[in-house]
Amino acid sequence: MFARITGVGSYLPGEPVSNNDLFQRGVETNDEWIVSRTGIKARHLAEAGVTSSDLALEASRRALAAAMIDAAELDLIIVATSTPDFIFPSTACLLQAKLANRGAMAFDVQAVCSGFVYALSIADKFIRSGSHKKALVVGAEVFSRILDWDDRATCVLFGDGAGAVVLEASETPGILAAVAHADGSHSGILSVPGSVSGGKVIGDPFLRMDGQAVFKFAVRVLAEVARECCDNAGVSSSEIDWLIPHQANIRILESTAKKLGLGMDKVIVTVDGHGNTSAASIPLALDAAVRDGRIKAGQKILLEGVGGGFTWGAVLLEF
Ligand code: UT7
Repeated sequence: MFARITGVGSYLPGEPVSNNDLFQRGVETNDEWIVSRTGIKARHLAEAGVTSSDLALEASRRALAAAMIDAAELDLIIVATSTPDFIFPSTACLLQAKLANRGAMAFDVQAVCSGFVYALSIADKFIRSGSHKKALVVGAEVFSRILDWDDRATCVLFGDGAGAVVLEASETPGILAAVAHADGSHSGILSVPGSVSGGKVIGDPFLRMDGQAVFKFAVRVLAEVARECCDNAGVSSSEIDWLIPHQANIRILESTAKKLGLGMDKVIVTVDGHGNTSAASIPLALDAAVRDGRIKAGQKILLEGVGGGFTWGAVLLEF
């Protein structure tokens, strides 16, 4: 029994916001710096009041339509997000209500930019155990809400969006291997070190990052975890049709591809138009490449992510 992706969808809020738009809005930056250091040209930012579950709903509707199933048929809903609508209920429960599904198991996964890979890995296990048959796995974020717009070293990097896949039990492959890891001793290099207590924000509610430490860590573990995942499936990296890394920075994508011996023509890149959308970035990139026809049935796709925690993981699948 395999868990197989039968539908993909995504959603980006509003119009693209260019690097120059950020400058016009008062961020002390310039297009040349952002493009040369990150490859980011634009991102989408949700309007006030638009939540992760709103973005997740649009992406999910598109994935369900592509899978040609009704939301009522889902028996598992997992949302990967670090920007949930509320402390509770989970964004997955709020999405479930918006989709008018009742009774499916629904919960959130908090693994920051690795969240979608973690969630896919969990859903794969539920389906392969035989306990669940039709899962919706979503990455949805409104990172713009946790950015310090006075910190130019971070606020230019992130964007909002959502991506979703429907996973169904199938006798044809499917997810071939899924691996995930964490090392909490690196929590300090990327975090939002605040909380809510007694009606007040305690600590710092904005994203803080040691960019260079994150860069070095990401490049190392992305290459390692890609190899581990391929080894587990008995697939060599030369057999991979498409690599879809978490879209954080074009230089991280290029370095990972090089370490794996893959040309950039095998890497799906959306960081230029989306920025870093954390848990949403991988399903957003997957959907873009499915809809424009690059990804075709039967191809081998390697998804991989790394993020705060630190967390990292990879999923190898046959589409
Ligand atoms: O999901 C994981 C998320 N995180 C990442 O993927 C981030 C990984 N790290 C990176 O991508 C890079 O470290 C950054 C793009 C964040 C930063 O690039 P860098 O080459 O490490 O730059 P830096 O932080 O060392 O800053 C270099 C200079 C500084 O100026 P001085 O001190 O040399 O005069 C910064 O003040 O660039 C300046 N700077 C900017 N200038 C224009 C920082 N941010 C900006 C900006 N616009 N937005």
